[in-house]
Order: sequence, then C-alpha cells, then structure tokens
Amino acid sequence: MCRPGEQSTGKRCQEDRCDRNASKNFSRCHFNFVSLDAGSVEKGTGSVRWACAAARDGDETRDERRTGGSRRAGGPREHARPARSRKLQYIANAVDALRQFYSDRGFTVSQSPPENQVPVSQQDSSPDQTELRERHYNATVIERIDCHENLARFRIRPDAGVPVFKAGQYVTLGLGYWEPRLEGTQEEQVPEKKLQRVAKRAYSISCPLLNEHGKLAPVDSLDYLEFYITLVRAAEGPGKAAPALTPRLFCLGKGDRLAIGKKVVGAYTLGEIDPQATVLMLGTGTGEAPHNAMTATLLSRGHRGRIVNACCVRYLGDLAYYPRHLSLMDQYENYRYLPCTTRERINTDPSMPGYVGKQYLQDLFTSGKLAQAAQDPLAPGNTHVFLCGNPAMIGYVPPGGQPPSTPGMLPLLEAEGFRQDHEGGGPGTVLFEKYW
Ligand SMILES: Cc1cc2nc3c(=O)[nH]c(=O)nc-3n(C[C@H](O)[C@H](O)[C@H](O)COP(=O)(O)OP(=O)(O)OC[C@H]3O[C@@H](n4cnc5c(N)ncnc54)[C@H](O)[C@@H]3O)c2cc1C
Ligand SMILES: NC(=O)c1ccc[n+]([C@@H]2O[C@H](COP(=O)([O-])OP(=O)(O)OC[C@H]3O[C@@H](n4cnc5c(N)ncnc54)[C@H](OP(=O)(O)O)[C@@H]3O)[C@@H](O)[C@H]2O)c1
Repeated sequence: MCRPGEQSTGKRCQEDRCDRNASKNFSRCHFNFVSLDAGSVEKGTGSVRWACAAARDGDETRDERRTGGSRRAGGPREHARPARSRKLQYIANAVDALRQFYSDRGFTVSQSPPENQVPVSQQDSSPDQTELRERHYNATVIERIDCHENLARFRIRPDAGVPVFKAGQYVTLGLGYWEPRLEGTQEEQVPEKKLQRVAKRAYSISCPLLNEHGKLAPVDSLDYLEFYITLVRAAEGPGKAAPALTPRLFCLGKGDRLAIGKKVVGAYTLGEIDPQATVLMLGTGTGEAPHNAMTATLLSRGHRGRIVNACCVRYLGDLAYYPRHLSLMDQYENYRYLPCTTRERINTDPSMPGYVGKQYLQDLFTSGKLAQAAQDPLAPGNTHVFLCGNPAMIGYVPPGGQPPSTPGMLPLLEAEGFRQDHEGGGPGTVLFEKYW
C-alpha cells in the first residue's frame, strides 16, 4: 500500500514486511517481493545499481539520447539530453522515487554509464564489407536504449515492415563475422572461410509496454520490433566457443544495419486462455522479454484474471523495464510484476539487516511467497504457467537425463499437479522456452 517518494495518507501498508505508510494513489506495495524491500537496511551498507537511463532521460521515443548521425569508427557521437517529456514524466518520477527510496536507506545509487561511454558504432566500411552488408542485411536499428553496459533494448525495423506474429515468439538477428567486436569481450579466432558468413541467434520479441503517452502499447501497435538483450562477454568455461553475436551487436547504434530472420517463429505463445484464468510468467534475466509481449497482449485483450510476471535477476539494476511495470500495475489492478534478486548484498551478506538469501524463483514458489505476493493461489485448476530464460531455472530433464542438484521449476510445478503443455493446453499446463 505504499510507494516511496509519494505523499503519505497516514495509513499503514497492509503488506507483510513493509514499513511504510500508504500513499495517496497506490493500492499496492511495490516492494513486497523484491529482495530489497529493505526498509531496515542500514545506512552506508549497501549499493544499488539503478540504471534505467531511458526512463531517467524522459522521452526515449523522441530521437534520441544519441544524436550523432555519423557511424564512423573513431568519430564520437554527439549526445544530447532532450528535455523531459511530460508524457513520460510519470516514469521518470517513478525512477527518481526508487532512487530516493534506496538512497534514503544508505544505498549508493549509481547511474548508467555516462552516455559518452555507450559504445560508438564501428560499422565502418571497406568496399568489401559494404557489399557484404548490402547482400545480407535487411533491417535497421532505429533506437538503442541502454540499461547498463551489459544490457540493452534494441528497436529494430525490418526493411519489409513489421511482420505479423504472436506475443512470445522469436526471430533471428544476425551480423557478419567480418564485423568488429566490442572492446572488453572475449577474442575470437574466425577462420577465413567463415569471414563472409553471418552469425545468427534467436531473440524473443519484447515490448516497451507503454507508448509515449504512458498507456499500454501492445506489440501489434508498434512499427518496430523491440529486443531485450544481454551482452555475453565471454563463453562460460574454457574450451567453449567465444560468443559470436552479442559482442558485435553491442557495437551497433541508431542507423546501423543487421540481418533479421524472414519469419517470426515459436510455439511459446499464449494460445487459448480463459479471460478469468491466472497467467503466471516466470523469467530469469532477459527471459522477461516474451513475458512483456504476452503481458501487453493479455491486458490489451481485456484479460480479467491475475497476470503475474515474476523475474529473477542478479542485481536490481538488471530490471530494465521496472518503471514501466510499476506504471502498468498502477493502471491495471490485475497485473503483478514481481522482481527478485540474487546478488545484492541483501542476498549474499547474512550480516545485512533484512537479509533474505538468494531468491530463486523455485524457492519463492515452494515457500508460498510467490502466491502470497501474487495474491493468488497459483493452483493448477486455474493457472497457466510460462517459464523462460536460464535452463537451470526451467529444469527440463530430457528422457534418460540426469536431474540437476538444484531442481528447476518444472519438477516443482509437476509435483503440485501442473503438467507440461505438449498438446491441448488449458489451465494447469506449463510452457517453457530455454535460452541456451
Ligand atoms: C528461442 C530463444 C530466444 C532467445 N531470446 C533471447 C532474448 O530475448 N534476449 C537475450 O539476451 N537472449 C536471448 N536468447 C539467447 C540468444 O539466442 C543468444 O544465445 C545470446 O544472445 C548469446 O549470443 P552469443 O552469440 O553472444 O553467445 P552464444 O555463444 O550464443 O552463448 C554463449 C553463452 O551465453 C549464455 N547466454 C546466452 N544467452 C543468454 C541470456 N539471454 N542470458 C544469460 N546468459 C545467456 C549461455 O551460457 C550460452 O551458452 C534466446 C535464445 C533462444 C533459443
Ligand atoms: N547481469 C549482470 O549484471 C551481468 C554482468 C556482467 C556480465 N553478465 C553476463 O550477462 C549474461 C547474462 O546474465 P544474466 O544475469 O542476465 O542471466 P543469468 O546468468 O541467467 O542470471 C539470471 C538470474 O537467474 C538466476 N539463476 C541462475 N541459476 C539459477 C537456477 N538454477 N535456478 C534459478 N535461478 C537461477 C541467477 O542467479 P545467480 O546469482 O545464482 O546466477 C540470476 O539471478 C551472462 O553471460 C553474464 O556473464 C551479466
């Protein structure tokens, strides 16, 4: 029942563990789930990487945090900060309020990297590269919104226009192996024969959730595709191939060209869902992307049952869409965005007041905290479940495979009476999308 930075009504928050008074306009506590519901965190002991540059800057749909048209390597872009748009002032206020909330509690609230550190496009050209790009590329980056140096939203417009697709589906993005890699990422030895090929990877289509008026923006209302992408700087473990695409993707800026798949595909979609049913979406990191598209679709079609979008990230600063979710929760009473973290000090340092330990989605589910925060029993009789992101969170074990020591969501859901959605669908089914 509270919101940091808002005028208090004097009524106590009804949510567990919340120490604040209720605010005028908000009927829900937004901090009852995030591990940093840390009204009790001591001053000077924590740090928060809160870094949603786009919302901070105001109107991100206006062109641009970056105004430099030049895409020549070595030629730094000019950066202009547009005046805050009134349309997105609400979001900016939400970010400011969050920043205030954490800094009041002694956290060091840092900003995004200064804009002149946003990598400058290196899509520079020899005649050969120009020819290869013309042959292979069929889309343009129209905007890039950095959350932090390893996390960004890319808005891409295919030359052929935005294809028809269903929320939850994905498409490939690609860049030539001839393209430069971002400094500070793993080096890659590209064999000669590969140098003219395109590295392609799958990406779920995300959704900005709100339009420039701060109102719901479902994916079919947009003239671009939004992607939510994390930079993989290096392969996990020795002997594995260097990540091919993201070190190149994070060199791109507005106006740069890339390849996009001709078809949007995937069976990770909403399907038939009763408007009164509960929809539970659990994601890790950028696994939130398809859930954002699904959320906007459900809300735009008047879904009346509970829509629960929970996302587990390492740090609070990894929640690029957080202010937008706050705004949606304010506008739609049946929507719950429930973020949790695993590497903030409140997760890792038992001496921290309010220490909660690592908050894996599995633990929140089995402890009942997820249902409590969702204000819904999340029972198989009325709930559709979607799991996306880190395969360890999903916990799919192929026939004959060895179950991992830390069970994922699938076996836990199955133990509660849910079943994998091979065919048919209906309440009680679980669909999943593994990112690797
Ligand atoms: C259907 C589908 C949809 C996808 N949608 C997205 C998306 O919306 N956003 C996104 O960032 N990625 C998404 N991915 C992952 C994406 O396809 C790439 O694998 C990823 O961007 C890394 O590409 P790379 O070439 O740089 O490294 P790769 O060589 O492909 O991957 C190297 C390693 O990075 C790790 N990794 C890969 N993707 C992620 C991730 N998303 N988060 C954390 N660690 C990861 C894994 O350990 C992987 O083995 C999706 C994957 C699939 C199969
Ligand atoms: N996010 C960052 O700040 C950051 C910074 C530098 C580089 N990167 C790179 O970016 C890539 C993506 O990172 P990411 O954080 O978005 O994705 P990620 O590694 O999949 O982590 C997302 C969330 O899933 C959790 N998780 C891990 N194993 C789990 C399990 N078995 N069950 C349930 N949850 C589990 C993670 O907790 P854990 O804390 O246990 O991992 C984390 O909270 C990686 O290649 C990483 O090296 C990320």
